[in-house]
Amino acid sequence: MDKFIIHGGKRLNGTVTIGGSKNAALALMPATLLASGKYQFDNVPELRDITTMGKLLEMMGADVEKNGHTLTLNTFRVNKFEAPYDQVKKMRASIYVLGPLIARYGYAKVSLPGGCAWGPRPVNLHIEGIKKLGAKIEIDRGYIIARAKRLRAAKIAFDVSSVGATGNILMAAVLAKGTTVIENAAIEPEITALSEFLIKMGAHIDGIGTRHIEIEGVDALHPVNERMIPDRIEAGTFLAAAALTAGTVKLENCNPCHLTTVISKFKEAGASIQVGEGWIKIKSSKTIKPVDVTTAVYPGFPTDMQAQWISLMTIAKGSSVITDSIYYDRFKHVPELIRLGANIELNKNVAVIKGVKKLRGAKVMSTDLRASASLVLAGLAAEGKTEVLRVYHLDRGYEHLEKKLHLLGAKIRRISGKEY
Ligand code: UD1
Repeated sequence: MDKFIIHGGKRLNGTVTIGGSKNAALALMPATLLASGKYQFDNVPELRDITTMGKLLEMMGADVEKNGHTLTLNTFRVNKFEAPYDQVKKMRASIYVLGPLIARYGYAKVSLPGGCAWGPRPVNLHIEGIKKLGAKIEIDRGYIIARAKRLRAAKIAFDVSSVGATGNILMAAVLAKGTTVIENAAIEPEITALSEFLIKMGAHIDGIGTRHIEIEGVDALHPVNERMIPDRIEAGTFLAAAALTAGTVKLENCNPCHLTTVISKFKEAGASIQVGEGWIKIKSSKTIKPVDVTTAVYPGFPTDMQAQWISLMTIAKGSSVITDSIYYDRFKHVPELIRLGANIELNKNVAVIKGVKKLRGAKVMSTDLRASASLVLAGLAAEGKTEVLRVYHLDRGYEHLEKKLHLLGAKIRRISGKEY
């Protein structure tokens, strides 16, 4: 397993290009099951999760070709409608094949995702929604087995706003008979991107970007090409890297409109931020002010930025309180940050952080994607040498993170598992 060695204390400076959105790609790729044929996606990041989704589609009979940031998918020969446990356990977003499979082929067998590094992550809303659309669902030995002749429209009101369930129901409802209504739909940019893609394919969707979505089912869709939106979480992570090292960094190929809350929090913390079309420039201040954060659904502060924000607050001048209201157990980074000298008290889903003058390098362990990012960030600020173990978690969601940081002046290198 690869690890990173970081010698902290280097101020980051320069320009970094943000990649395409992992979570948008993970929604759009399964949507290609809705209409047979050839699709081309651009600005697709080279990440382990994208490979995993590609493999899953290949197992169903799709041809998948990745050439740099261009992904070509041909779903003409899809003839297997199953997502086996071995694939789903690698990546929970595999559940996204449920909606398109049942809508297009009338059958889907998808493994239940099981646990996650940061606690329970149920899929009840996906299942209940698909049931409401008329599918018969049985749960058999860890598999969701769904059957339907043709789905029919329904009114689906989510009691929790869920990105994945909204995506799945959207993909199912576009081919259902009648007009489906989703209440309390997720409005994350990745869901908007999915809706816009489905409309290009011929779907009828109203209310995009609002909590009330209406989908009038059509008989058939057609393949189209698409460019992925920028990854807002990668962008937020680079803002944090700059802020933690008192650096000045320009982010290119990003969408500042997707980061309004995050940007305002960085400003509160003392950074000066300019934005333009497709770019953000952060000039950090040496003194980081403590800023409380409570994660929330979009456009609130994303739970996917909670770990990185905690890293920033560990060296703020004063105390801050970080609450995760989406995932209560998503704090595996906290004990590792404490190893680096952070002063954090965790009580359920609330972390109280007393800023320290300096973090000190140590050996720390990655446990999940964003937790790993927070450890790298802390390592960039820490005095001395930090080793971040098990960075395969990072490779799920950050393309060449160490190379991008290195180009900005960080002293960071990857040691391949074979070398030690
Ligand atoms: C997506 C993102 C993930 C992000 C999360 C929240 C992808 C591939 N992943 O995950 O990076 O952290 O949104 O922004 O896009 N819930 C239920 N029942 C369900 C589904 C969800 O109770 O059936 C709850 C969850 O436990 C959680 C909340 O709803 O508390 C939001 O989860 P959800 O938006 O579904 O997250 P994902 O789509 O899994």
